[in-house]
Amino acid sequence: MADQRTIIVTGCSSGIGAYCARALKADGWRVFATVRKETDLGLLEADGIETLVMDYTRQDTISALVTTVSERTGGHIDALFNNGAYGQPGAVEDLSTDVLREQFETNFFGWHELTRQVIPLMRARGQGRIVNCSSILGLVPYRFRGAYTASKFALEGLTITLRMELQDSGIHVSLIEPGPIATRFTANALAKIEEHVDLKHSAHAVEYRQQLARLNGTGPVNKHKLGPEAVYDVLKSALNAKNPRPHYLVTTPAKQGVLLKRLLPANLFYRLMRRLD
Ligand SMILES: NC(=O)c1ccc[n+]([C@@H]2O[C@H](COP(=O)([O-])OP(=O)(O)OC[C@H]3O[C@@H](n4cnc5c(N)ncnc54)[C@H](OP(=O)(O)O)[C@@H]3O)[C@@H](O)[C@H]2O)c1
Repeated sequence: MADQRTIIVTGCSSGIGAYCARALKADGWRVFATVRKETDLGLLEADGIETLVMDYTRQDTISALVTTVSERTGGHIDALFNNGAYGQPGAVEDLSTDVLREQFETNFFGWHELTRQVIPLMRARGQGRIVNCSSILGLVPYRFRGAYTASKFALEGLTITLRMELQDSGIHVSLIEPGPIATRFTANALAKIEEHVDLKHSAHAVEYRQQLARLNGTGPVNKHKLGPEAVYDVLKSALNAKNPRPHYLVTTPAKQGVLLKRLLPANLFYRLMRRLD
């Protein structure tokens, strides 16, 4: 259908991406979903979603994605939802610079590359929507999430700059800032901390026990956690609103975090944040 809107959604093997790809299709979009592993292609294809392999750390897969979508749609890409990412937990002093670099390759540089390759197609048509899934941790720092927090703070800066630069182009740029959402995110983060951090010999060894409990699901239940549909609700606004907002906060903790940061003196705010795990 010529008038069907098209969107690329990344990181669709699980969680927010998997949910949003299916919901967008149900709402009439032509969805190009991406996964990292070929073995995950079938999950979405079974639901009739065009699915392609793209890994943000491999530039060749980013270019191949844009070429394929452009060929299949005649250069008609209405929207891009950058979503695929992971969290590398661990105290800042326990993370090697290479591990920090890896975090940025996926969560930041890859997003920049894909966005840069999509913008010319949008510019040619004088319209488009770019929505980046950031995090409350892109606005408020948490202990033991330094790599992830840094990648999302960087993303915030880049995205808002891009938004201002594209102001008169017909291309709208927004950020979604979720708080806790029930996905595979914490399970994936657990694997990353176990892989990259020397938990036993760290000065933070005792605090890591609490972190591990949080990540493996044996810690206190977060009663504010929402499902991925909460993110889809605001994604729809970012894609459809006449004047989409720069920031869409999702969950009560995300809203509270931003409000407290605005209201409290910095010292007090960071002391309060230090108490949260
Ligand atoms: N869940 C939360 O509480 C929460 C809160 C705030 C923000 N977010 C953000 O929400 C977004 C989605 O996360 P989620 O919660 O849905 O987590 P998730 O269930 O772990 O899904 C993450 C997705 O990103 C993909 N991914 C990982 N590395 C990638 C790479 N190098 N290139 C392309 N894709 C890659 C994963 O693929 P594989 O399966 O192959 O690893 C997976 O499809 C992320 O941007 C995250 O930062 C999540």
